[in-house]
Parts: sequence; C-alpha cells; structure tokens
Amino acid sequence: MPEPTEQLSVSLWRGGRQGRYETYRVPRRESQTVLDVVTYVQRHIDPTLSYRFACRVGMCGSCAMTVNGHPRWTCRTHVAEVADGGRLQIGPLDNLPVIKDLATDMRPFFEKWQGANGVFAPSRTRADPMARIKPNSAPRRAADAAIECINCGVCYAACDTVRWNADYLGPAALNRAWTLINDERDAGNAARLQTIAASGGCHSCHSHQSCQEHCPLVLNPTASIAGLKRRTAAAYLKGELKA
Ligand code: SF4
Ligand code: SF4
Ligand code: FES
Repeated sequence: MPEPTEQLSVSLWRGGRQGRYETYRVPRRESQTVLDVVTYVQRHIDPTLSYRFACRVGMCGSCAMTVNGHPRWTCRTHVAEVADGGRLQIGPLDNLPVIKDLATDMRPFFEKWQGANGVFAPSRTRADPMARIKPNSAPRRAADAAIECINCGVCYAACDTVRWNADYLGPAALNRAWTLINDERDAGNAARLQTIAASGGCHSCHSHQSCQEHCPLVLNPTASIAGLKRRTAAAYLKGELKA
C-alpha cells in the first residue's frame, strides 16, 4: 500500500515534570485515532517514547492523555475530531505526576479513591442468603447512573479544584463513594460519610461541571457529589457525624 502524502504535525511531551514538546511528522490515515498516532511515533520514529494503553476499545481507561488542551481517551478519539489544521499536541494527563513522556503516575488518583472509602464493605457473609435489591428502587437507580466508571482519570485531570487543592478527593473517588452510599448491601456508610464530609471531601466541589463535560462515558460526577452534599448535610442534622 503506498504511503499517504498528507502529514500530521504532532507535538509530544518528552521528559518528566521538566521536559519539552517535540514535533514529529506522522502520515495521515483514514479513521486514525490519537492513540494510532502515538503508536506510530513509538514504532517508526522513536522507540524510547513512553505511553500507556491496553484495550484500545474504551474499556480499560489506561490511554488517557491531554490532546490539544483537553483530557481524552486517545483510543476513542479520532484525529479528524480534534486535529486543528493538521496539528496535534499530546501531553500527559494534568493533575498527576509525570513518570515519563505521556505516562502519568496514577497512584494519587487511586489513593484518593481509597481515601473516599471506595471499597465495598460487605454486610453479609457467604452463609447468608443473597440480598434482593429492587431494580427500580431509588438507591439502585442512583447507583446505576454512576457505576460504569472505569477510573480513566479524565475527570480528575479536568477538575480545577483538584489542581489547587491537593487534599480534594476529586470527582471519580466521590462518584464511587456515591455508588456505595446507595448500595443497600454495604455496611461502611458511617465511616464513609464521615470521610466525605471532612475537609477535602464533597463540600470542596465548586460544581463547575468540568468533570461531567469531559467524562467519555457521559457520567455525571457533579450530580453524584451533589447527592453526597445532601446526604452529609442530612447526617449532620441528625447528629450522625462526629464534629
Ligand atoms: S467518571 Fe468518567 S472521566 Fe471520571 S474516571 Fe470515571 S469514566 Fe473516567
Ligand atoms: S464539579 Fe466538582 S468535581 Fe467536577 S470538575 Fe467541578 S469542582 Fe471538580
Ligand atoms: S486503551 Fe483502553 S480505554 Fe483506551
């Protein structure tokens, strides 16, 4: 197959926290994704380029990067949607430490997920009968609306509050907490509400909705956080939160 003549001008971040953008010429192809472009540079121009991906189909959440100023899944972003006059600038996700080039350290993101008590706390043992949850109950519907998160970090990178408040748990961790608060099988809500009501929890959110605007799964962490604000306020009024 002949090489296409049209070329993209692609600037990629190289280095760690200190680094620079370097520009490469990449052949333009039909139905090309941003991840295809990064892969082309790594396979054909510079094998030392570091980046992360796994599934290539929007399931694992590992390929998120900053593309022309916005956080995105690179495997599900077509070049045609974002290339500005044939130019792409691709960097690591914001609000996370850079390991090298386009790969960020996701540890702070997952530590905050744990900090929001994002782990299911079982209320039953294997010996107990299976819990029966009505599919149309309000808590079940609230959990369903938020449950599909794949922890890609796009909303975390888009959140200004995460940027200036290092303690803020962020949209993904709080969205996860909201699914558990609404899980009738979970026994960890007393501790979870305490954590979420504290400094750096849901009341730090300024509701400006960048998380919702950028989530590739069209989830709405802002709505989940609004639910947490209501739930923690009610717990406070009932005297369920320690001062
Ligand atoms: S809420 Fe959306 S953007 Fe945020 S981590 Fe989950 S899937 Fe990614
Ligand atoms: S709505 Fe809250 S969590 Fe979402 S981007 Fe804004 S401050 Fe961050
Ligand atoms: S590579 Fe898995 S979501 Fe992009």
